[in-house]
Amino acid sequence: MVEKNIAVLPGDGIGSEITREAIKIIDAISDKYDHIFHFQYADFGGAAYDKYGNPFPEQTKKICDTSDVILKGPVGAPKYDSIKDPNLRPERGGVLQFRARYNMFANFRPVKLPQSLLSFSPLKLERVSSGLDIMIIRELCGGIYFGKKYTGKTEEGHSYASDVMEYAEPQVEQIARVAFAEAEKKHSKLHNIHKSNVLACSVFWNDIIDRVHVTEFPDVLLEHMLVDNAAYQLVINPCQFQVMLMENMMGDILSDEAAGLIGSLGLMPSACIGPKKSCFEPAHGSAPSIAGKNQANPYSMIGSVALMLEKAFSLQNEADDIWRALFEVLSEGYYTMDLMDNPNTNKTVVSTREFGSLVRESILG
Ligand code: IPM
Ligand code: MN
Repeated sequence: MVEKNIAVLPGDGIGSEITREAIKIIDAISDKYDHIFHFQYADFGGAAYDKYGNPFPEQTKKICDTSDVILKGPVGAPKYDSIKDPNLRPERGGVLQFRARYNMFANFRPVKLPQSLLSFSPLKLERVSSGLDIMIIRELCGGIYFGKKYTGKTEEGHSYASDVMEYAEPQVEQIARVAFAEAEKKHSKLHNIHKSNVLACSVFWNDIIDRVHVTEFPDVLLEHMLVDNAAYQLVINPCQFQVMLMENMMGDILSDEAAGLIGSLGLMPSACIGPKKSCFEPAHGSAPSIAGKNQANPYSMIGSVALMLEKAFSLQNEADDIWRALFEVLSEGYYTMDLMDNPNTNKTVVSTREFGSLVRESILG
């Protein structure tokens, strides 16, 4: 039995709807396995900006500081793009400040496509015939996202803007260890993704990867791959990948591409792991166009609960139970709107609530 405090930040757009379904699943798990989870809700992102003029206000910080773990929905909406100070916008002032506060540097994004769901992929069947089970590991607290930013005038009087990509040795070392450990645990090869033919940061990064490999994980198979080639290979031959490591912005881009491989960004949960605190959140945005319509796919939020149980609480059986239930419901053809262009002829469109209830029933048996 475990007893844990979970800070819940539903966020914006579809956030509150998919969070509600995730909580339903946590309740099902606590009933079935006899755990106790306490929830403390807090505003975050645009919702918090509207109330407090700050996307990550003090009240929310306090609740997150004192929780064991954080479950967070997506944030942002077009109306916040016009906030003058970029540091008060939901993305930079909310999400990035939040990741930095708890040094949640290791981002895990699983790309799971079991045999029973191959038709979800927009790729030809033969390209994904063995199914996909890729873990994208993205460095989350460094790189161009957190490097110095400038805007100003050139000597000739032209306006200019600059974002600097920066990494320090300990930052690369710590994410390297996380990635090698994941590959070792899965008995898998590690692909290190980089752009060392152009970027000094990548040359530096690769040297550290090689050193950590030789000195700490000599038995893990390692392959270096240029990021442009990796983008291509993901489409041409995705089954070659098991664990992929990359810096922050490359990870932002390739993880969305990888979600495309399995048919929907709605199928991509994520874990942001720090030394003391971790957050679990969907990799997608807040989908304002379908907010409040009971149409959003709660899979990514429910999958984030599975990641939370596994990575924060070491409850592997409970996590596996959630994955099994998610795949069972989808295999039976119950799809939310985002999956409806799937060629399966036996599909039934379900709402956000219905999908959550089906997963809950599958868990409770
Ligand atoms: C993600 C999102 C964020 C990012 C945004 C909301 C800042 O796109 O988690 O992938 O770019 O990291
Ligand atoms: Mn992204």
